[in-house]
Amino acid sequence: MKGITKKFGDFVANDSIDLTVHKGEIHALLGENGAGKTTLMNVLYGLYLPTEGDVFINGERVEIKNPNIAIEKGIGMVHQHFMLIDKFTVVENIILGMETTIKKGSFDTKCIDIESATKEVEELSKKYGLHVDPNAKIHDISVGMQQRVEILKALYRGADILILDEPTAVLTPQEVEELIQIMESLTEQGKTIIIITHKLKEIKQAADYCTIIRRGKKIDTVKVSDVTEEDLAEMMVGRQVSFAVDKKEMNRGEVVLDINNIVIKDNRKLNAVNDLSLQLHKGEILGIAGVDGNGQSEFLEGITGLRPIESGKVILNGEDIANTTPRNIMEKGMCNIPEDRQKRGLILDFSVAENMILENYDKEPFSKNRRLNHKNIDEHAKKLIEKFDIRPQNEKQTAGSLSGGNQQKVIIAREITNDPDVLIAAQPTRGLDVGAIEFVHKYLVEQRDNEKAVLLVSFELDEILNLSDRIAVIYNGKIVDVLDRKDADEKKLGYLMAGGGVDDEKK
Ligand SMILES: Nc1ncnc2c1ncn2[C@@H]1O[C@H](COP(=O)(O)OP(=O)(O)OP(=O)(O)O)[C@@H](O)[C@H]1O
Ligand SMILES: [Mg+2]
Repeated sequence: MKGITKKFGDFVANDSIDLTVHKGEIHALLGENGAGKTTLMNVLYGLYLPTEGDVFINGERVEIKNPNIAIEKGIGMVHQHFMLIDKFTVVENIILGMETTIKKGSFDTKCIDIESATKEVEELSKKYGLHVDPNAKIHDISVGMQQRVEILKALYRGADILILDEPTAVLTPQEVEELIQIMESLTEQGKTIIIITHKLKEIKQAADYCTIIRRGKKIDTVKVSDVTEEDLAEMMVGRQVSFAVDKKEMNRGEVVLDINNIVIKDNRKLNAVNDLSLQLHKGEILGIAGVDGNGQSEFLEGITGLRPIESGKVILNGEDIANTTPRNIMEKGMCNIPEDRQKRGLILDFSVAENMILENYDKEPFSKNRRLNHKNIDEHAKKLIEKFDIRPQNEKQTAGSLSGGNQQKVIIAREITNDPDVLIAAQPTRGLDVGAIEFVHKYLVEQRDNEKAVLLVSFELDEILNLSDRIAVIYNGKIVDVLDRKDADEKKLGYLMAGGGVDDEKK
């Protein structure tokens, strides 16, 4: 890519960027939230036309006017937010738009040739080590498998250059290892990979080269083996970044959230949360560590009022809030940074300013006599944009047009501003750059220092260990142990997370 410039109105998202990628390499793109990584890749995939600049593939200048041309040229893209159809099966998703049909029965009806498609998908999945269940519906499979479906979709269309936009942000540490192996097997067989990630460790582990982008401009392309993680972080944000969290002694107060023996069912009506009990105190950050799929999502949905609680109590500030409405729970003092920011955290078609008041639109100063006061709403948003460094600084822009990391900052700004007694933070730094992570961590610690309680759920053990005062381990829908931070390390947590503390019988 040579001299790629992409403007949105007056805003320059890509400023004359050069990017050279060689066949068979894994090339990482690194940059802060909103730096322009996704935009650059959307240009390569034909989703955006560049304002200026040219793209060459195998030395030939190509005009990629739309994704169909990109696919024809051997480019495949797995997006930051998946684009699968929930109710379709794995195979149906992979062949969507490319179905071959066969005649069936005596009438002239045409059917999709699912059988041969399934066979083809199975072959591809074997060849590259991308394990999937071809007949499973998307809504029943793990996020990790959904991602493999997305990769297969691209390979099915003949992709030689595969763009992966933050593929590991949604994965558990185990799944990340698997993906790295898959990437290696792909490049061994001649594929080329461009990967966007905020995780410096992964870049060091998997990538050959790394191009750093800051505020739309290319800073450099470096050979990964020549640089340290600290070098990368500094090039990316333009200053030194602290990886450790500064915390003073905890001042633990009384119990504010008391969860007693709750049982919650999953979509298949099986008990996902099984007689779980947990106490959260004022002035502490309680981390919940666990392997994905051990009931974390159902637990969070249950206590925030989004999923019925079959039995048990959730006492918040002395009052049982189990099975009341999300609005009631919020008003009683519990706010939520949800796991899925696009589905549960934002209304993508609303402006940033509107998203900032989703919970308070009916209160003064944002409305009076059922009329919104746009001046106050905009002013409120401007303040938060400034304070939380949301880019670009435009409260009128729709939430959907923000970069992934900045969408997350909008949610965090809104929830923290409510100053809840209990803040639930589910994967709060997913998809954030290292500078932004530092910033979010600071705010979570600030809540705690103000004697509020924070319940942190994260797949990142580093994050749990860095932030938490106590750590609860969830396994099979139960809290199997609660450790003081000083008694916990990665090894011990890993053992408990794998069910190590549970009798074999109970497993
Ligand atoms: N369709 C659009 N209209 C207006 N502005 C846009 C649009 N798409 C992207 N932008 C802006 O361009 C900038 C770059 O966004 P981009 O999504 O490329 O960032 P990114 O580097 O991928 O960030 P992240 O790490 O948070 O995903 C952002 O400021 C974003 O708000
Ligand atoms: Mg992005």
